Order: sequence, then C-alpha cells, then structure tokens
Amino acid sequence: MTEVPWIDINYYKENVMERKEFLKSLGAGAAFALTFPCLQGCSKDDENGDSNPVPTGVDFTIDLTSEEGSGLQNNGDFILKEFVVVVKNLEGNFIAASQICSHQQTDQVRFLEEQGGIFHCFTHGSEFDQNGMPLNSITNNPLKIFNTELNGNILRVFE
Ligand code: FES
Repeated sequence: MTEVPWIDINYYKENVMERKEFLKSLGAGAAFALTFPCLQGCSKDDENGDSNPVPTGVDFTIDLTSEEGSGLQNNGDFILKEFVVVVKNLEGNFIAASQICSHQQTDQVRFLEEQGGIFHCFTHGSEFDQNGMPLNSITNNPLKIFNTELNGNILRVFE
C-alpha cells in the first residue's frame, strides 16, 4: 500500500503561504530575480560589483553639516550617492565622478589618495584622473565627471 505523505496544513499555511505572499509583495521582478538569480548569466564581473547604467540626470545636494555630509569632512574623504562618487580631494575641493565604471559598467569606482588623488575601479583596476581621463590601458573610455557647487554648507552635484 502506498503511503500518503502527511501534510501539516498549519505548517503549509504558515510557511509556504507566507513565503509566496512575501515573494508576491516584492513584485514580480524581484521575485523572479530571487528565484532565478543567474538566469541571465553569472559572470566573474557579477561577483565583483553589480552592473548598472552610468548615471544621467544627476542633480542632488548634500548638507555638509548633516550625517551624510560628515563623510566629507577631511581631504581625501568620499561618499557614494545615487551611483556618484562625491569626493573632497586632497586640495579640499569637491569633485564628483560616476561610481559606474566606463570599462564594463560595474559599480566599483572609488577615490584613492595615491598619485595626488585618482578614481580607481576595483573590478579590473582601471584608473582615471580627476577629469575622468583614463590612466592605464584597461579602458580608453573616460569616466563621467559631474559638476559641483558649494553654497554655504550645501554641496550641489549636477550635470
Ligand atoms: S569594470 Fe571597471 S575596470 Fe573593468
């Protein structure tokens, strides 16, 4: 005689249903991404930063007296906001560049204090000067640079 598997309906309701509801609440796209994370191909680059489009239409402000602005107090400091690397460079000037690399669009661009201050992508090691010009042969594509404007304690970053 075939055994019928025992199903605890309460367990099903509490766990299986909850999970379904949870995925539903995330929306179809997110649920799909959670269920099939590598369907579009997991490459080595995905393990070293997410790919994203280079930011466009950037226009935001940072109050330098706020908690967010506290990350920009010292020369060489930088913060990440809306896929932009906002930097107080070694001369104390505010500059900003795309956090999305011009090589293969990973979000691994950061500011380094070496060579007077450069942008460096940790995915494959491309480097850019503060005008976004490439400093090594990994890519010839310039890194997108944004304008900055300081009004009192309010720093504006825009295109
Ligand atoms: S993606 Fe930045 S160096 Fe390749």
